[in-house]
Amino acid sequence: MKLLVFAGSTRQQSFNRRLAVVAADIARELGAQATLLELADYDIPMYHAELEARGTPPDVIRLKEAMDAHPAWIICSPEYNGSYTGLLKNTIDWASSPVAGHPVWADGARPFAGKVVGMLSASNGLLGGLRSQSHLAPLLINLGCWLAPRHHALGQAASAFGDDGRLLDAGQQARVQAVVQQVLWAAERLQQAD
Ligand SMILES: Cc1cc2nc3c(=O)[nH]c(=O)nc-3n(C[C@H](O)[C@H](O)[C@H](O)COP(=O)(O)O)c2cc1C
Repeated sequence: MKLLVFAGSTRQQSFNRRLAVVAADIARELGAQATLLELADYDIPMYHAELEARGTPPDVIRLKEAMDAHPAWIICSPEYNGSYTGLLKNTIDWASSPVAGHPVWADGARPFAGKVVGMLSASNGLLGGLRSQSHLAPLLINLGCWLAPRHHALGQAASAFGDDGRLLDAGQQARVQAVVQQVLWAAERLQQAD
């Protein structure tokens, strides 16, 4: 199974980027082919309809291709003001915007529809960014994603990771693993049904 893992943060020491690494490692241990996508590697401006009318940026197409190539995703969502980040929203808005007249990307929902998505979040707060997930969930469902019922919010993230990048607490590690496992399980079954 091909799993795409990405975080809604480009911060160097981002908890969510670190959690994405943990999730990708777990997926590989479970036999999946995990791709860790860094949003910093994509040159994507703030969405602007006039800008789009002059041509969709090449990196938006590259992002759509990466998303479309993976039936399963894990999104690690930071929490800003009780919601997900502007970076994540802007990325999803561009990725879901139809490219007029394009042979593949004229359907805006194409990179999203039918994907099995697991949500994780991390914050140094006690709630672990959980509220960002409650806003992200309806957006993903609206785009045709299948959301895994399991999800996890990692609280007190500043002290959660060891020097090797792994989660120090075995219970936290197990909860992240359960999300990854469920996403892979569901994506495999959906593929079989196709
Ligand atoms: C504008 C802003 C608003 C924030 N609001 C919240 C919040 O509502 N809840 C929370 O737990 N953390 C909040 N934080 C703290 C972030 O969780 C923290 O910056 C975290 O490190 C961001 O994720 P990252 O480490 O993956 O970059 C906020 C940070 C910023 C910059």
